[in-house]
Amino acid sequence: MKGIILAGGTGTRLRPLTSIVNKHLLPVGKYPMIHYALVKMAEAGIEQVLLITGKQSAGLYADYIGDGQPWGLQVRFGIQEEAGGIAQALGLAEAFVHPGEKLLVLLGDNLFEESFRDPVQSFAVSGKGAHVFLKQVEDPRRYGVAEIAAGLITRVVEKPEQPPSSYAVTGAYLYDSAVFDIIRHLRPSARGELEITDVNNAYAAQGLLSYSHLAGWWTDAGTHRSLLEAGARLLEEEE
Ligand code: G1P
Repeated sequence: MKGIILAGGTGTRLRPLTSIVNKHLLPVGKYPMIHYALVKMAEAGIEQVLLITGKQSAGLYADYIGDGQPWGLQVRFGIQEEAGGIAQALGLAEAFVHPGEKLLVLLGDNLFEESFRDPVQSFAVSGKGAHVFLKQVEDPRRYGVAEIAAGLITRVVEKPEQPPSSYAVTGAYLYDSAVFDIIRHLRPSARGELEITDVNNAYAAQGLLSYSHLAGWWTDAGTHRSLLEAGARLLEEEE
């Protein structure tokens, strides 16, 4: 399996911090945010990772990560010229993934306690379609939210006014290689981006979107408050 880390975007919610440096290089605990996604990839048993960033701070990623050896990974870099959405960034990974290969995709601003090792291994062997990881949250309107029936996700609604459940779709995704065909057929959303939620809905429409629940801690460190809280929590574990 290949690993894709998506670390582009403009980080508007974290301005003015993100006016000088890309969001995923901001400090969280002892490390730049991006460190944690690399750890998760290595922990999951993934060896080859493509990291997709914007142009902002691209050289700093190379300074910090190099070829990925400190994490036991082989890391390659891809550039998303303009912020066109998470799914557009993922589409740039097509040439990195061999036909038939599956992928673990992580959003660089999502921090997870849990290891993805077991789900990655079972998806590699027998996984079909796509698999997402849900977490029950108090404020589902901030996220993509899963509607569930008979053990399958029937649809995901992005930042719904009236959430169909309290289960947020977190920023970790397992896909088969059909994902690139799906991305090619996507239309931009109302905010002009190719949405990862639309990718997941294409799988859901075929009955191919499975899920599991995250037992451990999870946060999207995309706001000042969540960034601070994540940093405090991780620093405690690191000291
Ligand atoms: C993105 C996804 C959303 C998901 C979230 C997890 O939202 O679009 O479905 O729940 O990541 O962090 P964003 O944070 O880019 O608004």
